[in-house]
Amino acid sequence: MNDAVNLADFELRAESLLPKGVWDFIAGGSGDETTLAANRAALDAVALLPRVLAGSGGADTGSQLLKCEASLPVAAAPMAYQRLVHPDGELALAAAARDIGIPYVASVLSSATIEEITEVGAVTWFQLYWLRDRSQVDAMVARAEAAGCQVLMVTVDVPVLGRRLRDVRNAFRLPAEVVAANLVSGGFSTAHSNPLRGESAIAAHTQEIFASALGWADLEWLRERTTLPLVVKGILDPRDAVRAVETGADAVVVSNHGGRQLDGAAASAAALPAIVDAVGSRCEVLLDSGIRSGTDVLRALALGASGVLLGRPLLWGLAVDGAHGAHQVLSLLLSELRDALTLAGCANPAAARTLAVL
Ligand code: FNR
Repeated sequence: MNDAVNLADFELRAESLLPKGVWDFIAGGSGDETTLAANRAALDAVALLPRVLAGSGGADTGSQLLKCEASLPVAAAPMAYQRLVHPDGELALAAAARDIGIPYVASVLSSATIEEITEVGAVTWFQLYWLRDRSQVDAMVARAEAAGCQVLMVTVDVPVLGRRLRDVRNAFRLPAEVVAANLVSGGFSTAHSNPLRGESAIAAHTQEIFASALGWADLEWLRERTTLPLVVKGILDPRDAVRAVETGADAVVVSNHGGRQLDGAAASAAALPAIVDAVGSRCEVLLDSGIRSGTDVLRALALGASGVLLGRPLLWGLAVDGAHGAHQVLSLLLSELRDALTLAGCANPAAARTLAVL
């Protein structure tokens, strides 16, 4: 897509290309989509105070996230079932992440196996939802470790799936060719029960395979189980961030799941500063939910984040032109961030963390 000048251009094109049910599954939030909208509003409300006469004349976007080199302080957010938007799915997004030089976070609910994804050669992190049976969690962690994943991310904001009304109205189901490949190949139950009336098939499936009563003791068990750096994704309250660090987390992701879980939850950019205050000196603090431009990445850094996860815009790029489209999205974001850093008088992302905001 050669005429795209920002990430929103990919959004428009992707919406025009994808079937309505798939588009709504990606774009939608839960409930009245209050939190989905709040994510954008909170980022837009962050007014940056650029520094002048800083003498740098240009900026280097290079960073480290969880000791992994990254060409910009961004990782590809874990997103399930990427073959919904393009036949190359996860393999294409991982290739785009590899080529631009950022970590790719593979969802346990990927439509390619973790072994196929790591084969692509990106720096790969593995994202886990807690499966019903601890032996299944154990087996998935072992597979991720053996496949060469460098970080383990556990998502803690899905005790049940949020009420995603678009999916309910569309009676959204996965097409037969898109499956939870890790679960199928691991021999775990992937039975797609018939959803109840007024329920999406994804919500019914989640209910069947995930453990809903996850507690801190489970996180302690996981911390003991693996030597990989551990990231806890889906935190908004500083008290939970402190508890995660005390349990041995190496990073937290301040996230409301892109407005897809508790509707009415705080915007993640609004929740970020208190979490940085509480744990920022003890662990890395990442942010996601609503990042749509290099300016947004700069805003997150200025609020104290170490980096961000990029979600839906990568699926827009993937839908538009596979690996090439996703790579274009990341290239645009990198150029935007470089410009924004330069205009703010910051030589690099670390300098951006000293910016003041109103
Ligand atoms: C997600 N997200 C998600 N998170 C997770 O931990 N595991 C997963 O499997 C998924 N799957 C998923 C699918 C789709 C289609 C979307 C849009 C999102 C949430 C994701 O990691 C991230 O938190 C949000 O996407 C960030 O918000 P933005 O940037 O998309 O607004």
